[in-house]
Amino acid sequence: MATKVKRTYSSRSRLSLPSSSPSSSLTSTTKRKLLAEGTENEPPTKRRITTKVKALPSGRSEKSKQRVLRQLHFSLDTSVLRTCSTCNLSYTRGAPDDESLHRAHCSRVQKGMEWGREEEREADKAGVEEVRSGVKLKDGKKGRIICFKTNVSGRIGSKLAILLETINLALSSPPLSHDILQCSKAYLFLIPSLTNAHREKIVGCAIAQRISTAMVIATPAETLLVHDSNRASDRDPLPPSSTHHLVAVDTTSGLFCHPEGLPTPLGIPRLFVSSTHRRQGIASRLLSAAAATFIYGCPLDPLKGDIAFTQPTEGGSAVMQSWGGGGVRIYEE
Ligand SMILES: CC(C)(COP(=O)(O)OP(=O)(O)OC[C@H]1O[C@@H](n2cnc3c(N)ncnc32)[C@H](O)[C@@H]1OP(=O)(O)O)[C@@H](O)C(=O)NCCC(=O)NCCS
Ligand SMILES: [Zn+2]
Repeated sequence: MATKVKRTYSSRSRLSLPSSSPSSSLTSTTKRKLLAEGTENEPPTKRRITTKVKALPSGRSEKSKQRVLRQLHFSLDTSVLRTCSTCNLSYTRGAPDDESLHRAHCSRVQKGMEWGREEEREADKAGVEEVRSGVKLKDGKKGRIICFKTNVSGRIGSKLAILLETINLALSSPPLSHDILQCSKAYLFLIPSLTNAHREKIVGCAIAQRISTAMVIATPAETLLVHDSNRASDRDPLPPSSTHHLVAVDTTSGLFCHPEGLPTPLGIPRLFVSSTHRRQGIASRLLSAAAATFIYGCPLDPLKGDIAFTQPTEGGSAVMQSWGGGGVRIYEE
């Protein structure tokens, strides 16, 4: 029988409702390319690992022949592509640039980036607000939550750009569009640095975006019906039900949605906590702060369906359940 599911989104690609073909995920090569195009404190620059060599007419000098050999050498590089199990990044082992970019990225993923005096100096001008202070974590550490617009410029803008690049690489997500960055807010969780009294660490980040509609996640019972009817044979179809119209957000996690877009004010297109600070309640605190303060004077409630995520990862789904009590919706970024 015809499939009950309208369409399937591939796990980490951005979903696009009207399209009929599933989009592809970023490959390791794409990830590597993304990494290669941005470094810690500079605007993205084009850095090429491979060199294109044009086909040579016959009778060329020895020097030209060497260029052909060089190309061969570069194509062998793919065999030393390594994927780090800690940060999930693929890079070329032995290529000094790649190795050092990986080291910087890996450390940011694990420990977070710094928020120092230079950032504090610009904080007022950049409209940085402290929305929560003295937030106690499970391990007893205390932190604070700050918030600012994502179109901020200057030093804080560059810091946010690197943070977002790190998050996108870790999630294999594309960069957030210019339009989204124009109207969103970043919520950062800061904890005091262990080594420097004047510095803090950015250990968590939630991006909050004004959206208009989002889809309700199907209940486990509705999802089960989809599985059952998919398994049923053509001669033994189940009676039509609302599950006919469910949309699969992620087939591996079995997340299904009702495709109707319902009015929903707040979207979370990115959520990230550095790996050594997870399971301390940081993501949940960031989400609560965003829900409470994103629209001035109008606290939002996940249980009422006010908040939506883009395609969640496994960890994202777990937080969605635990923090949002099943009321979080799904939207297209
Ligand atoms: C997903 C992520 C943001 C969670 O951050 P966090 O600060 O560890 O989340 P919290 O501590 O607030 O978790 C709250 C609850 O969610 C659930 N949860 C969170 N992460 C989980 C995980 N990896 N597996 C199972 N349950 C999880 C738990 O119920 C947890 O409560 P508990 O620790 O008391 O059991 C973090 O793991 C992360 O950055 N992962 C990589 C990026 C990512 O996947 N982002 C989500 C994009 S949608
Ligand atoms: Zn790594």
